[in-house]
Amino acid sequence: MKTLVLVFHPDLSRSRANAALLSAARELPADTVTVRDEYALYPNGKIDVAAEQQLVEEHDRIVLQFPLYWYSSPALLKEWEDKVLEYGWAYGTDGEALVGKQIMVATTAGGPESEYQPVDNGATIGEVLSPYRMMARYTHAVWREPFVVFESMELDDAALADAGRRYQDALTAE
Ligand SMILES: Cc1cc2nc3c(=O)[nH]c(=O)nc-3n(C[C@H](O)[C@H](O)[C@H](O)COP(=O)(O)O)c2cc1C
Repeated sequence: MKTLVLVFHPDLSRSRANAALLSAARELPADTVTVRDEYALYPNGKIDVAAEQQLVEEHDRIVLQFPLYWYSSPALLKEWEDKVLEYGWAYGTDGEALVGKQIMVATTAGGPESEYQPVDNGATIGEVLSPYRMMARYTHAVWREPFVVFESMELDDAALADAGRRYQDALTAE
């Protein structure tokens, strides 16, 4: 199983949670887990579509890692979806690139899990992440249970290290 971790954080030098998860992912064997800092690769937002598609084709599990921003992702992930998941490649005639591949979201939320409840017009984290689940469904990929770190701004070093270990487990689980 080859896993591709695409990290979408606008400034990892100011990140704690996503930086910790990225470091944990980079400790895994590089021949099975590829980790990419997408904002560093594309600082002007212009994505190399052919390179991204080739990487997806070479891996079995695609992990989209990002901090939750306004119940969604930083803008580059949306751009990545809009540009990389092309007609004729990801969907439509001959568009079968994602069929059978696993897709997993890994996200960090500033809020506690108790804020993600379906009461008073609220939504669960699963509902918040439903656009990604629907993307996986539309492309006939296999949706993996999201990896979520709540209260991401409150975690001390020990809690971040623990999240990193749990992330490694999630990335290497069959
Ligand atoms: C523009 C912006 C929007 C945010 N929106 C949300 C949000 O909708 N829900 C939430 O729980 N946290 C939200 N947060 C908090 C981030 O999720 C939090 O800063 C991030 O997970 C911390 O990760 P980091 O240490 O890798 O930067 C937001 C933060 C920013 C800067």
